[in-house]
Amino acid sequence: MVDEEVSPSPSAAGFGHVPVMASRCIELLRPAITAENDSGAGAVFVDGTLGLGGHSEQFLSVFPELRLIGLDRDPNALAIAGDRLARFGDRVTLVRTRYDGIGDALVSAGLESTGSVTAALFDLGVSSMQLDEADRGFAYSVDAPLDMRMDPTSGITAADVLNTYSHGDLARILKTYGEERFAGKIASEVIRQRERAPFTTSAELVELLYRTIPAATRRTGGHPAKRTFQALRVEVNSELDSLSAAVPAALDSLALGGRAVFMSYQSL
Ligand SMILES: C[S@@+](CC[C@H](N)C(=O)[O-])C[C@H]1O[C@@H](n2cnc3c(N)ncnc32)[C@H](O)[C@@H]1O
Repeated sequence: MVDEEVSPSPSAAGFGHVPVMASRCIELLRPAITAENDSGAGAVFVDGTLGLGGHSEQFLSVFPELRLIGLDRDPNALAIAGDRLARFGDRVTLVRTRYDGIGDALVSAGLESTGSVTAALFDLGVSSMQLDEADRGFAYSVDAPLDMRMDPTSGITAADVLNTYSHGDLARILKTYGEERFAGKIASEVIRQRERAPFTTSAELVELLYRTIPAATRRTGGHPAKRTFQALRVEVNSELDSLSAAVPAALDSLALGGRAVFMSYQSL
């Protein structure tokens, strides 16, 4: 058995993507995966945030008989990961779902919704591919339609939030999901600007934020759009609701001795 990180496949390497802390994830989940057999035979690994399939590729390579159930709500991610993981054949089942749908996804893969998973991994947030695909509106550094949906086929967009939410709701999400000090001031400015013309592109919002956030705080608080873009992304994708439903569902899905790892790079 090889216990080394493998190189990204050419399709994923095109996105410059290397999975984060893969060795540590493997170290944490290995005791559960190898409890019966070093090869992972009989073990089921759920990657709840498949993304470009980087972590899954590592697990499937290190444990040559491990079975993967990979979940993502983003159809583009599933297509790329599907190509990347094709060489692992029928060890791989990919399901398009929000991760709190883990129980139904397991049933669709022929497993029990509870007690059937050996190890699960959740690498929370947005993927490098989603940030790099300029037209999806996640990045404040490029002008794009204000979309930000991880599943571009359903739900409201960031433009819908800006153009329809009340002052109170805008201020609440900016403060709660973006930890933005100037939430009230930004909400007032958004309401004023949308009365003239609805928001459509990220550049309009970035320009408003440069105008509204005092220059002095910009020197210490990072890019002025950072917190507002995070808040809109969390709201558009119901990220915290989805996560609070996913944690108990993931724990219920675990077999006796199973393990789950959750990775997050934001403070919410
Ligand atoms: C940080 S990336 C994962 C990267 C992945 N570990 C890899 O190695 O390529 C997070 C992924 O989770 C997906 N995602 C985020 N929230 C989700 C949710 N509630 N349900 C399903 N997928 C979600 C995103 O679409 C994105 O593809």
